[in-house]
Amino acid sequence: MSDAIKRQEKDRAAESAASRVKDGMVIGLGTGSTAERVIRLLGDRVKAEGLKILGVPTSLRTEQLAIECSIALTSLTAHPRLDLGIDGADQVDARLNLIKGGWGSQTREKVVSYAAQKLIICVDSAKVVEHLHRPVPIEVLPYAVTVVAQQVKGLGGKSTVRLDGSRGGYFITEQGNLIIDADFGVIRDPEALSVALSAVVGAVEHGIFTNAAEVHVGTEKGVKVLKRA
Ligand code: A5P
Repeated sequence: MSDAIKRQEKDRAAESAASRVKDGMVIGLGTGSTAERVIRLLGDRVKAEGLKILGVPTSLRTEQLAIECSIALTSLTAHPRLDLGIDGADQVDARLNLIKGGWGSQTREKVVSYAAQKLIICVDSAKVVEHLHRPVPIEVLPYAVTVVAQQVKGLGGKSTVRLDGSRGGYFITEQGNLIIDADFGVIRDPEALSVALSAVVGAVEHGIFTNAAEVHVGTEKGVKVLKRA
């Protein structure tokens, strides 16, 4: 798929997800290039229609963008129950399980997604697959990185500590931790792997999400909305 088509599909998916936002809602704001499109669209509605919403950002980057777009922000302390969470994903399987964390924000994204009454994901069509097979990002305490890699190996995964391409050295999360990208090959039972990874000692949070209610898939012709059965 060309970059231009991918951008168009992300735009369509973002428009479809953003249209679900209504006046008075408290929204979890995701991270990544597709979530950014949603935030810009919501900002346009704030300015054009006087849409009144509050946002809970999942990263510093998202927080800065939301402020730039005139979206009022709140916190999970003030609003532990959100009306909606809207985010992107790196891969989506046929049962709407996800891999997230390409931008290293899966810890906050997961917390926000569980605070939301409904999680809506928007993606381009290339991300939809039968079975998840991308490496799973795992945020890890730096002290525990080798011990986590050992446990991941025990679960059948091969660990690579993520590097920061732009700065050199390791990629550091907003919480000051490292990311292991754990390759499990084809993941036939994401729910079971999610539970197993949640039990890994020294891991903070991993990027398998099993709680998406809807996935809005941008296609060449329009948008397909997949709903959890
Ligand atoms: C952030 O850590 C991720 O979970 C993103 O939501 C995911 O990587 C999708 O990013 P894009 O929308 O940029 O493809």
